[in-house]
Amino acid sequence: MKDRILVVGSLNMDMVIEMKKMPRIGESVMGRNITYIPGGKGGNQAFAAGKLGNRVMMLGCVGNDDIGKALVANLSEIGVDVSNVSYISEETTGMAVIYVSETGDNSIVVVPGANSACDIEFLHENEKLFRMADYIIFQLEIPFETVFHGIRKAKEMGKTVILNPAPAPEPEEIPEDIWGMIDYLTPNETETAKLSGIDDISDEGIQKGAARLLEKGVKNVLVTMGKKGAFLANRSAKVFYPARKAEAVDTTAAGDCFNGAFVTGLSEGMGIQDAVQFANIAASIAVERKGAQSSLPGREEVNSLWKGYKADENE
Ligand code: RIB
Repeated sequence: MKDRILVVGSLNMDMVIEMKKMPRIGESVMGRNITYIPGGKGGNQAFAAGKLGNRVMMLGCVGNDDIGKALVANLSEIGVDVSNVSYISEETTGMAVIYVSETGDNSIVVVPGANSACDIEFLHENEKLFRMADYIIFQLEIPFETVFHGIRKAKEMGKTVILNPAPAPEPEEIPEDIWGMIDYLTPNETETAKLSGIDDISDEGIQKGAARLLEKGVKNVLVTMGKKGAFLANRSAKVFYPARKAEAVDTTAAGDCFNGAFVTGLSEGMGIQDAVQFANIAASIAVERKGAQSSLPGREEVNSLWKGYKADENE
């Protein structure tokens, strides 16, 4: 039986606007189309792990509106336990406006709406989910104090804590005691630079940044590096894991896919190295498709590439 994963985080509806090139400040550009796709970093990570076949519980808040219901239904359809997602009458469901350029790059503005209602009281009410979980994964699209409270609670209960620090806060916004409670910190390159204070996203800069984060007490720093793959640093290893080559059409939620797949690997008893490579493969599939949850791969697809990868590795 796989261990249980709890995702504590945001649920957003993404309004995705495709365009040739991103507008610069003061510039108007023509968009090609607009689509509405379920997203939110929390929802995406829960969806990713759920679609890969895990036992996943989602803890988050939506508005008491049709959009909120659609987000919850999308997660429920792939088997995520959404029974503790809260419908907030006074707020509308979180929304993200995402620009996607012809090269597959994106920029995102999130309006949190009901995600702001995920407060400490809400976690108290749902403490039983913390007890039921083995792996608890957080991002930073809900109030920071809720995340920090959740991390302390998870550690008190002896759970494995994963923090995907996105969007990245200022480093001083993370309380000193929190760093040492993080089993896996999973920033991307710019988040690593911001959190570590080492403003250099070259491979060397990332290594230094990760080392600085380890010094703060984090047990494993796992930097997602887009088409380069991922870099893992802990006290005994510093390793780059190259990505599978992919034709990126939209990188939205690739990091979420990586996180969901990584925790899937861990929860199935894979070693860290295998879990990172499994996650790299899942994320490489996600970038080949449009949208957030719409892009996340199923188990069969990941396994078929994963098996090929393992065979090459053993040659
Ligand atoms: O990581 C991608 C996600 O960030 C999008 O789905 C959007 O909702 C924002 O939360």
